[in-house]
Amino acid sequence: MKFVIATGNAHKVEEFSRMLKNLDFSAISAKELGIDMDEAEEDGDTFEANALIKAQYACEKSGLPAFADDSGLCVDALGGRPGIYSARYAQNDQARITKLLKELDGVKEENRTAKFVSAIACVFPDGKKFTVRGETEGKIDFEPRGVGGFGYDPVFLYEGKSFGQMTGVEKDAVSHRGKALEKCLLELKKITEEDIYADK
Ligand code: IMP
Repeated sequence: MKFVIATGNAHKVEEFSRMLKNLDFSAISAKELGIDMDEAEEDGDTFEANALIKAQYACEKSGLPAFADDSGLCVDALGGRPGIYSARYAQNDQARITKLLKELDGVKEENRTAKFVSAIACVFPDGKKFTVRGETEGKIDFEPRGVGGFGYDPVFLYEGKSFGQMTGVEKDAVSHRGKALEKCLLELKKITEEDIYADK
């Protein structure tokens, strides 16, 4: 089955493509199909609602099944912010990290708990849809470490290592997106099997 990855974020495309490699599902990015994901208005108030908006948009534009991830960082000391506003928190990755570390200035190590959340939505041309969620808990470090990954990865500490210090494959094995994709693939297998039985 071929899917559109409904995101304009090249890093997410890279992570999804790497994780989908060797599986029965293949994916093409929205960009490769000439779909401008900036046109999809993310005005939902949950990760799931925003993921559905993006997947629905790409499905309608392409006529293909689409999946989208809406993700972000929820920091306990900030009451769960930036959350669904993680991309809009500041203008670029560097500015986002600087702002986050400034907001957490004076917050002790034990109170710097946070989680990454990824909601994946799948939307099919026949109207079927579902969402799944993956979460990974960690802590916000006092300074950036490593140059891997993207976004908040250099300051997100997971079991003593920042996501920015991990290889892509290491991050996939424990990341919010990896967990959400695993659940998504289970749902897709169920749907595919239901369709096969319905055809019999
Ligand atoms: P959106 O899901 O495209 O609206 O944006 C999510 C934002 O959350 C990204 O721009 C990043 O700043 C952040 N984010 C989401 N997933 C990750 C991740 O795996 N690593 C680091 N930052 C992430």
